[in-house]
Amino acid sequence: MSINLMIREITAEETYSIRQPVLRPGRPILECQFSGDQDEGTFHLSIFQNSNIIGVASFMKNSNPFFKNHTQYQLRGMAILAEFKNMGYGSLLLKEGEKKIDLVNKDAMLWFNARITAVDFYKKHGYECIGKPFEVPGVCEHIVMFKDHLN
Ligand SMILES: CC(C)(COP(=O)(O)OP(=O)(O)OC[C@H]1O[C@@H](n2cnc3c(N)ncnc32)[C@H](O)[C@@H]1OP(=O)(O)O)[C@@H](O)C(=O)NCCC(=O)NCCS
Repeated sequence: MSINLMIREITAEETYSIRQPVLRPGRPILECQFSGDQDEGTFHLSIFQNSNIIGVASFMKNSNPFFKNHTQYQLRGMAILAEFKNMGYGSLLLKEGEKKIDLVNKDAMLWFNARITAVDFYKKHGYECIGKPFEVPGVCEHIVMFKDHLN
C-alpha cells in the first residue's frame, strides 16, 4: 500500500491525542493545554499518514528575553508518535512550520525549550543551544535552542 502523507493546520484541542501519549504519558489531558495555545498568531500543525494523525507541532508568537529579535516565535509540543519516530516525519513538520513563519515575516526567529534528548534532532536542522540546561518539573531536563534565519 502506498503511504499518503499530509500536513495541515489543526486546533489546539486536536493536538492533545498526540501530546498526551508522547509528551505527557499517564498525565491528565488538562496538562496537554499549553499557555499560548489559543493566542492570536499561534498555529498548530499536524502530519497525517493515510488519514491518521501521527505528529503535531505548535508555533506561537512569543518572545524570550534571551533574544533581541523583533519577531520571535516559540515552538511547543513537537511530538511524533513513538512507532513513527526516526522516519523523517518530525523533520517535515518542523520545516513546514519554519516555511509558514518565514512567508509571513522574513526576519522572524524560532526558539524553544528543547528536551535534552531531542537536542541532536534540532541541531540537524541548524538550531543552536544557548544558556544552561534546566529541569522542567515533572517532565525532564531542557535547554533553550534557537535559529535566527528560517529560510
Ligand atoms: C524529537 C522528534 C520530534 C523528532 O521527530 P522524528 O520524526 O523522530 O525525527 P526525524 O525522523 O525527522 O529525524 C531526523 C533526524 O534526527 C535524528 N533524530 C530524531 N530524533 C532524535 C533524537 N531524539 N536524538 C538524536 N537524533 C534524533 C534521526 O535519526 C534523523 O537523523 P538522520 O536524518 O541523520 O537519519 C520525535 O522523535 C519525538 O516526538 N520525540 C519524543 C518527544 C520529544 O522529544 N519531542 C521534542 C520536545 S522538545
